[in-house]
Amino acid sequence: MIAAYQRQCQQRVDAALAPLFQAPRDELTRLYHAMGYSVVNGGKRIRPLLVYAACEALGGEPARADAAACAVELIHAYSLVHDDLPAMDDDDLRRGQPTTHKAFDEASAILAGDGLQSLAFEVLADSPGQDAELRLQMIQCLGRAAGPAGMVGGQAIDLGSVGLKLDRRALEVMHRHKTGALIEASVRLGALASGRANNASLEALQRYAQAVGLAFQVQDDILDVVSDTQTLGKRQGADIARDKPTYPALLGLEPAKAYALELRDQALQAVEGLGPAAEPLRALTRYIVERRN
Ligand code: IPE
Ligand code: IPE
Ligand code: MG
Ligand code: MG
Ligand code: MG
Repeated sequence: MIAAYQRQCQQRVDAALAPLFQAPRDELTRLYHAMGYSVVNGGKRIRPLLVYAACEALGGEPARADAAACAVELIHAYSLVHDDLPAMDDDDLRRGQPTTHKAFDEASAILAGDGLQSLAFEVLADSPGQDAELRLQMIQCLGRAAGPAGMVGGQAIDLGSVGLKLDRRALEVMHRHKTGALIEASVRLGALASGRANNASLEALQRYAQAVGLAFQVQDDILDVVSDTQTLGKRQGADIARDKPTYPALLGLEPAKAYALELRDQALQAVEGLGPAAEPLRALTRYIVERRN
């Protein structure tokens, strides 16, 4: 079920993303090419999937969520391009192909990331069919999640923690910022885009997203240990090689796996009251902790 849903949402968001990488003039061909290279390259599209699934959970039409789905993937792709730079994680493989700074050059990768970030907000501001107040709420939500109080802050904590021994609380803070914030925003944006959110549904979905966001990064840490480079499409063992603080490093592999399952159950519990329309959200939760890449 999740595979079919995933394919359908991937096609949907990919169709909405593709036109964004047409260079408006010849001089910008290389920049737009680098941006497209960083996005249209087989990512799992988990954040757009969460946007669509949250929108549907509240009875919203998927078309209402297209702009938000694009926006979260653009921010995510930008974060990966910068995350892979030599000054950060210094990785040369992403989604099974050379990282953007390897395929182009460092300056192009920095600018491609910058461009993707700006595009995300432009797309969200243009959200067709949403009223101005709602668009403003969505822009605020994404800005907060992507910025220094969210993902960028998490990346700063991550880079400042290399080689340090973080305790469990500090590791959780780092993960909730660097990965959790954008996942939480994806769920909230989907709910807002449905046009049917209320305080109770937003609160339930936030509890859901907090658990899923952390589960996602715990599983990412686990995969660095148990998966292989071919399956991952990025270098297996990169965290270990760089002495990154991770859940398996802190707790051990089996306790980290048990924690991911505990978070999955917390997420499922949070959306118990949402009925059959939340089935895609539930399936995604299971997928996030069972995935192999
Ligand atoms: C990887 O994210 C980076 C993290 C935030 C851990 P994904 O596993 O969603 O990467 P793609 O988009 O599928 O390549
Ligand atoms: C990346 O975390 C988080 C962001 C890009 C915001 P990681 O450094 O763990 O991601 P991977 O493992 O390189 O995909
Ligand atoms: Mg990193
Ligand atoms: Mg990395
Ligand atoms: Mg990782």
